[in-house]
Amino acid sequence: MKEWLRTLPKAELHLHIEGTLEPELMFELAARNGIRLAWQSVEALRAAYDFDSLQSFLDLYYRGMSVLCTQQDFFELAMAYFERAHDDGVVHVELSFDPQPHLERGVTLQTILAGLESACDEARRRFDISSALIMSFLRDRPAQEAMAVLEQAAPWYDRLAAVGLDSAEVGNPPEKFTAVFERARALGLARIAHAGEEGPADYISGALDALDVCRIDHGVRCLEDEALVARLHSEQIPLTVCPLSNVYLKVFERLESHCLPALLDNGLCVTLNSDDPAYFGGGMLANFMACHEAFGWDEDAFRELSRNALEAAFIDDQRRERLL
Ligand code: ADE
Ligand code: ZN
Repeated sequence: MKEWLRTLPKAELHLHIEGTLEPELMFELAARNGIRLAWQSVEALRAAYDFDSLQSFLDLYYRGMSVLCTQQDFFELAMAYFERAHDDGVVHVELSFDPQPHLERGVTLQTILAGLESACDEARRRFDISSALIMSFLRDRPAQEAMAVLEQAAPWYDRLAAVGLDSAEVGNPPEKFTAVFERARALGLARIAHAGEEGPADYISGALDALDVCRIDHGVRCLEDEALVARLHSEQIPLTVCPLSNVYLKVFERLESHCLPALLDNGLCVTLNSDDPAYFGGGMLANFMACHEAFGWDEDAFRELSRNALEAAFIDDQRRERLL
């Protein structure tokens, strides 16, 4: 099954590029940029990957990404990910990036985007992997800051597939960002948001109503609201579910108790993704294999999940047809 899953053409729609930073590269970049890390070694860092919640992960995630300083750093980060994704049989990737923590350290949007874009170009040339960029706002920071970042990104609007919303969910409802997402809509940008990962089902409805999003990242808590499930079903809103992430962050205790089978039983448009593969036990193939082992899904089930992702992707129709 693993080899069959590897050859299945897969699209990854929920991937934080900063969450692909492996400890070895983190230490290499820290040394190159003269940055002192809080951990003594790669092993000590890996031993710290013991999360009990989204926040405990985010604390480490933001510290780790502080080694990214130059265009070359962002290029190497993304290329290392693309190589692993290619080995996993991924043919299309939508990379989210979090500008705010980088801007705060004095790293410019130009540095981030030039590095990521050149990696995307090389991935297309070397691996025939297509890609799209999603600029995400941190929901635990002020909405005015997100608005300023959106305005600052003007030179790149035509190269952003969408804007997104991530980071600490509980206590930061989607409505906080209504004006920012209104502005993104006026600019012609597509919108997506994390919702219903740790936060309640209300945040999923809020993301649909207040932010007018076309996809929901995670969305696993939708099952707590029957009317919402009916809406997600009738509108076939794609959910970018991240099985291993949910287990590592204790959203579900074990994969066997994950609600994925129930989401499918309700006829929802589910896709499988890796979220932060360096931190959560591996990339797309590891997530697909884990689901095969936990739920006993067969080839038809995975074909449908991959089809959902390709249909929900920000991709031109010609390429979509070719990959489907
Ligand atoms: N940023 C990176 N990974 C995230 C996740 N799983 N949830 C919210 N924000 C994130
Ligand atoms: Zn995420």
